[in-house]
Amino acid sequence: MNEPLRLLIVEDYPDDAELMVMRLEEEGFKPDWKRVETETEFIKALEEKPDFILADWALPQFSGLRALELVNERGLDIPFILVSGSIGEEAAISALHLGASDYILKDRSKRLGQAVRRTLDSRRYQHEKEVAEGELKGRLAELEVLYSISSSLRYLESLDALLKSLLGQTLAALNADTGSIWLKDLNSSKLRMLSASGWFTELDAWEVEPGEGLVGSTYLLNKSIMIPEFVSDPRLNTKVLPQTPAGWGGVLLPIHSNEENIGIIVVAVSQPRQITEKELKLLGSVAETAGIAVHRIRLFEELQAAGDALVAAYHETIKGWAGALELRDQETEGHSERVTDLTLELAKKLGIADDQLIHIYRGSLLHDIGKMGVSDTILLKPGSLDDREWEIMCHHPQYAYDLLARIDYLKPALNIPYCHHEKYNGTGYPRGLKGEEIPLEARIFAVVDVYDALISDRPYRMAWSEKDALEHIKKESGSHFDPQVVQAFLMQVDKTD
Ligand code: C2E
Ligand code: SIN
Ligand code: SIN
Ligand code: FE
Ligand code: FE
Repeated sequence: MNEPLRLLIVEDYPDDAELMVMRLEEEGFKPDWKRVETETEFIKALEEKPDFILADWALPQFSGLRALELVNERGLDIPFILVSGSIGEEAAISALHLGASDYILKDRSKRLGQAVRRTLDSRRYQHEKEVAEGELKGRLAELEVLYSISSSLRYLESLDALLKSLLGQTLAALNADTGSIWLKDLNSSKLRMLSASGWFTELDAWEVEPGEGLVGSTYLLNKSIMIPEFVSDPRLNTKVLPQTPAGWGGVLLPIHSNEENIGIIVVAVSQPRQITEKELKLLGSVAETAGIAVHRIRLFEELQAAGDALVAAYHETIKGWAGALELRDQETEGHSERVTDLTLELAKKLGIADDQLIHIYRGSLLHDIGKMGVSDTILLKPGSLDDREWEIMCHHPQYAYDLLARIDYLKPALNIPYCHHEKYNGTGYPRGLKGEEIPLEARIFAVVDVYDALISDRPYRMAWSEKDALEHIKKESGSHFDPQVVQAFLMQVDKTD
C-alpha cells in the first residue's frame, strides 16, 4: 500500500503528532508531514495545499476551530479531522457544522487511520459521483434539446418554418437570444440569412459571397470559429459594422448535409459571457440535426413541387380527353361536366368519404373515355345499332379500363368508367355485376348519366323531356338502378327545380 499523504498537523505536543503519524502508517499511508502550532505557521503551510489536516482542539496560541475557519475562509476543500484529549459534544457538533470530516479522541487514536481512510474514500466517491452526475446531466440536457429540436422539425413542412424553429430552440437551449441561420442558395454561390433574431434582424448584409465577412469566412474554412468580439475581428463584413454592437462575440458553425457545407449557424452573446466548450459541443450536434432537417425539407419541397406540377398536368390531360371526346360526339357537349357535378353532389349525400371525391370527379369526367376506341361510324350513327355495332359499343367500359389501369394516378378513378353500364338487376355490361357488387359510385353515376343522356339530343334520337326522363328513371328503379340512389337523385333534382 504505502499511499503517499501530504499531511498538516496542528498540535503543540510533538509526541502526539508522532503518534498520529504512526497510526496512519499502520493504516498503510506514507505521510509526508509537517507540524504547526500557531496561526501564522498554519496559514503559511496552507499555501502548500496539504492533502489532509489533523488538528488538536485546543493549543496555547491557536485552536482547531480557528484552523477550520481559516481553511473555509480561503475556500479550500481539504479534509479535516479534529483530534482532541477531551472534546465536548457541543464543540464536536460545531466543528462538524464548520465542515470537519470527523473527530477523534486522543485516547482512541487507534481509530485515526480508519477515520482518515474513510474520509478520503467518501470524498473520492463523492467527487466521482459529482463528475458522473454532471456529465450525465449535461448529456441529458443535450439529448433533451436535440430530441425536442429534431422531433419538432419532423413535422415542419416549409424551410422558413424549420429555420425559425431551429434558431428559436437553439437559442433557448443556450439561454441566448441573438443569432442567425444562413443557407447557401441552391442556384447561386450566395449565402443568405434566412432566419435571424436579436440585432441580426437589423443587418444590411443578409446575403454574402463565400469568403465575405465572418459568415463567408466560416463557410470557406468549413470549421466552427469562436469570435471574442465581432467588431474587433478584421474579417467582419464592413457592411454590417454599423449594426453590430460592440462587446458582442460568439460562435459560427458550418451546417453539413451529405458531407457538403450548406450553411452557417451564428450564435451571439454579449461579453463577459462566452460560449463554453459544452455549449459548443451541443451546437455541433444541433448543426448536424439542422443539416439533416434542411436536407429533408428541401427534398420534401422538391417532391411537393413536382407533385403539384404532376397533378396539374394530369388535371389538364383529363379535361383534354373529356373535351376531345365531346368534340367527336358533338351533341354531348357539356355532358361530362354536368354529370360530374351532379354525381359529386349525390356522392356526398350518400356518404362517400371526402378523400374519395377527387377520384369520383376524375372518373366521372372520364366515364366514356372508352368511346375513344369506338369508330365514328358507330358512335355517330343516326339510327339504331346492329348486333356487331352494339357489341363494339359495349366494349367501351373495357377500353376505359385498359387505358386507365396503366396510370397509377387514375387507378382509384376506374370504378365509374369501368362499371357505369352495369345494371342493378345484373343485366348490364361488361361483367353483369349485380346489386352491391357494383361499386356505389358507379351506381350513383349510372342514374345521373342516363338522365342527362335522355334529356340531350343524340345522333340516334332527339332529347326527351325532363318529365319523361324522370319517369324513365323511376320506372327503372330496382331493375336498372339502385332504388336508394334513385330516391336520393329524385330529391336532388326536385330541389334544383
Ligand atoms: P349515351 O348516349 O351516352 O347513353 C348512355 C346511356 O343512357 C345508355 O347506355 C342508356 O342506358 C341510356 N340511354 C340513352 N339514350 C337512351 C334511349 O333513347 N332510351 C333508353 N331507354 N335509354 C337511353 P347504353 O344503352 O348502354 O348505351 C351506351 C352508349 O351506346 C350510348 O351512350 C350511345 O353512345 C351508344 N348507343 C346506344 N344506343 C344507340 C343507338 O341506337 N344508336 C347509336 N348510334 N348509338 C347508340
Ligand atoms: C459577417 O458575416 O461578418 C456578419 C456576421 C456578424 O455580424 O457576425
Ligand atoms: C374495377 O375492378 O375497377 C371495377 C370495380 C369492381 O367491379 O369491383
Ligand atoms: Fe357509357
Ligand atoms: Fe355518358
